[in-house]
Amino acid sequence: MSKKFILGIETSCDDTCIGILEIDHNIPKILVNIKINQNNLHTPYGGVVPEIAARSHIHRLPFILQDALNMCDLKIKDISLIAYTKTPGLLVSLLIGENFAKGLSLQYNIPIIGVNHLKAHVLVNFLYQPLLFPFFGLIISGGHTEIWYFNSLDSYKILIKTADDAIGELFDKIGRIMELPFPAGAEIEKLAQTTQEIIILTMPKILSFSGLKTQCIKLIDAKICFATLCNSLQKIVTELLVKYIKLHKITEDIYIAIGGGVAANTYIKKELIKNFTHIYCPTQELCTDNGIMIAWCGYLEYFGYKF
Ligand code: KG4
Ligand code: ZN
Repeated sequence: MSKKFILGIETSCDDTCIGILEIDHNIPKILVNIKINQNNLHTPYGGVVPEIAARSHIHRLPFILQDALNMCDLKIKDISLIAYTKTPGLLVSLLIGENFAKGLSLQYNIPIIGVNHLKAHVLVNFLYQPLLFPFFGLIISGGHTEIWYFNSLDSYKILIKTADDAIGELFDKIGRIMELPFPAGAEIEKLAQTTQEIIILTMPKILSFSGLKTQCIKLIDAKICFATLCNSLQKIVTELLVKYIKLHKITEDIYIAIGGGVAANTYIKKELIKNFTHIYCPTQELCTDNGIMIAWCGYLEYFGYKF
């Protein structure tokens, strides 16, 4: 059968995501991309509570799967491969997704594959364009800030990663202090867009974001305008990223594929494009966690890349 339907299940944190990808003669098409966030459940705590996230995944997964199948008029037995997020993430949330996927696989005799969430964030860039090795992967998410080097699908290494907090984590923590809704990244971007004002923050000496957090907390205590702070924070974080990409990117013509929720930030994306001509970035909905990236990564790893 040339047509394949790949089910992607993503439960690494608090979003419950199911995606169904159709692959017809090696050409992928997104059939469904459902993403149900749990923001209202976690906002009172100012961050994700693993136990609440896991319980919510348990309740939601069967209904979301049924909705997804109905939306593209498929039955579970039509699915050719189940891909789920194996790692990294919140252990309890991952286990719920993994067990749900394994249950379906056993019951309906469907092949299954567990994939790396970060690799999936990067590879989703190649859904509609050829996968050309080697390339760099820049992962900027709520839990990770890392630069990878991909030689092939199976051969890749981490060149550098943050010494402490991830950028998304920094945004979320500062957002919590400013009493912005959780997660705060998109809200910080909106606030930043309302001003041109900048306050000079001290550039970290290494790839690290916790010092910036301390600087921001002090400025919030000193009653700085929140929009100015957000604008300045976005700017310095981007400068730091650009500096470290330049340090590791030896040749100009190698592409950088960006992934992760922070890549949805228009300012960061624009600045990266300005600094590096060879850059790929997914559409906004494929930057943040989603089931399609898991389905695509699972497809590439299970069936191989045949374009
Ligand atoms: O990749 P992702 O959906 O989940 C993880 O794997 O962590 O990334 C979530 C992170 C959160 O920290 C959120 O605040 C941040 O992405 N984020 C943004 C934007 N949209 C989401 N950060 C900056 N600007 C945005 N527009
Ligand atoms: Zn993610």
